[in-house]
Formats: sequence, structure tokens, C-alpha cells
Amino acid sequence: MAQLEYDTESITDAVIARLTDCQDPRFKEVMSSLVRHMHAFAREVDLKGDEWFTAIQFLTACGKKCDDKRQEFILLSDTLGMSMQVVALEHARALKGRTGATPPTDATVQGPFYWEGAPDLPLGSDIAEGVPGEPALYSGRVTDLEGQPLKGALLDIWSGDGDGVYDMQREDSGMRARARIRTDEQGRYWFWSIRPTFYPVPSDGPVGDMLRKMGRHPNRPGHIHMKVSAPGHKEVVTHLFVKDSPYLDSDAVFGVRESLIVEFEKHEPGTAMDGRQMGKPYHVAHYDFRLIPQGDAA
Ligand code: BEZ
Ligand code: FE
Repeated sequence: MAQLEYDTESITDAVIARLTDCQDPRFKEVMSSLVRHMHAFAREVDLKGDEWFTAIQFLTACGKKCDDKRQEFILLSDTLGMSMQVVALEHARALKGRTGATPPTDATVQGPFYWEGAPDLPLGSDIAEGVPGEPALYSGRVTDLEGQPLKGALLDIWSGDGDGVYDMQREDSGMRARARIRTDEQGRYWFWSIRPTFYPVPSDGPVGDMLRKMGRHPNRPGHIHMKVSAPGHKEVVTHLFVKDSPYLDSDAVFGVRESLIVEFEKHEPGTAMDGRQMGKPYHVAHYDFRLIPQGDAA
């Protein structure tokens, strides 16, 4: 007769055994492992019924908090380091077997504030006209891993304003401080925006409650987001972090990579590198992006 009842160990094998007829081998592998780890976790902490119910109420609250502009589950994944864990695994997979000397640009979390359809603007544009914050000129090149320039590469750019607020968080939420810019013949890009400042991830929901209960702050160091892509190359979703920003060493979502920390050189009013007349102090940030070729065996 089949086994009817289980103890705290054999129930794990029993659940996994029910996947015998699962037709999708990857789904089977992932679900079996999830069940194994979840049961082991419950045994390890000797989970109480009321604690598990609190967890279910928490997940329910996360679901209720979500709408077309707020994604509490991504925030949960981000703040528990799971988004960066997956980014790091993807990155390691892309680098596997690679022997070349120049590493590609590191990836980091996308976060919840990407907005598809930012305006296409010409090189040299100010993408944050009228947005509060100290002006900054961003420039550099997009190349492949051999340093060959990628012309027509696309930079899809977004950031908060100088007060750390994203357009999507405002009532009058038209797009601000966002643009799509393409590199020139030599793979060069340059544009104006503001120097981003640190800001808190949304903390008025269940994830904020969780952070407070954990004794954690919700802040991210100053950064600007970019998705960089070029035909025949893998897209990289990344940030440039402001050197010396507070919270570089304790980013609430664990997204900092040393290779992405950039100096924002301060300049006095005058003629900027691109010829723009600046009536107030401004910053200059330089970064070269390196993309992995598509279909690269590595
Ligand atoms: C962001 O950088 O925009 C972000 C990333 C993760 C969670 C919240 C915000
Ligand atoms: Fe951000």
C-alpha cells in the first residue's frame, strides 16, 4: 500500500515524487529544488504556524500593493538580493570559457522605474531640461570587447532628478530625465542630464515594513540607469554610480559594482567640452561601455 502519512523529512520526498509525470525537465528541476530548500528552511527555523501565516499575509499584501506603476514583488526580490543574484549568475554564464583580457561592462538591476518609449534625442541633448539638479555632461564610447567602436549603439537612459525622485513617482508624471541616444560613427556618445543623488526605494508598503523590521535603511547610492544595445551584441542593463555618494557601501538592493563607480568631476562655469556655455558649475562623467558579441560561444 502506498505511504499515507509522512514525517517532517519524508514529506519532502513525497512532494518531489509527485513531479514524476512533469513533462518539462527544467520546471521539474527548479520545482523539486524549491520544495527541497523550502522544507529544509522550515525545519531549520522550526517554523511556527503563526509565522507561516504572517508570511502568507505579507505576500498577499505585496500582491495588493502592485499596480501598473508599482511592482512590490520586484522590490522584494531586489531588497533580498535575489535580483542581483540572478544578474550575477547571468553574467557568469556569459563569461564562461572567456579568455579575453577586457571584461564586458558589468550588469546590475533594472529596478522598477524603466519606462519603455523614451524620446529619441540627438547626441549632445540635455535630457533633463528643467529638472532639478546639478548639470552633468556624460560621455564615452560603446565598443565590442576588442575595443572596436559600435556605431549606432543605443543608450536607453533614465534617472531620478537631483532630489532623488523619478518622474513615475510624481503626480504630473510625464517623462523626465529619460532619452534614447545613439552613438556616432566612432561609437561615441555624449549628453547632458543631472548628477543623480541617493534616494530611498519605495518604502510605504510591505517591503518597507520588512526593511524596518530587519533594521535596514531603504537607500540607494546616486546612479543613472542605462540599457545599452547594438546589433549583433548582447544588451547590458546597468547603472553608472556617483563616486563618493552616500550608501555606495550599503545599497538597499546590493546593485553596486566597483567597475561602475564613476568620478563626477566638478567644473566651474564656462565653456564645456562640447562647446556648451555653462552659467553655473557642472560635472563631467566619463564611461566606456563594452558589449559581448551575440552568439559568442563563451
Ligand atoms: C532603481 O534604481 O531605480 C531601483 C532599483 C531597485 C528597487 C527600487 C529602485
Ligand atoms: Fe534608480
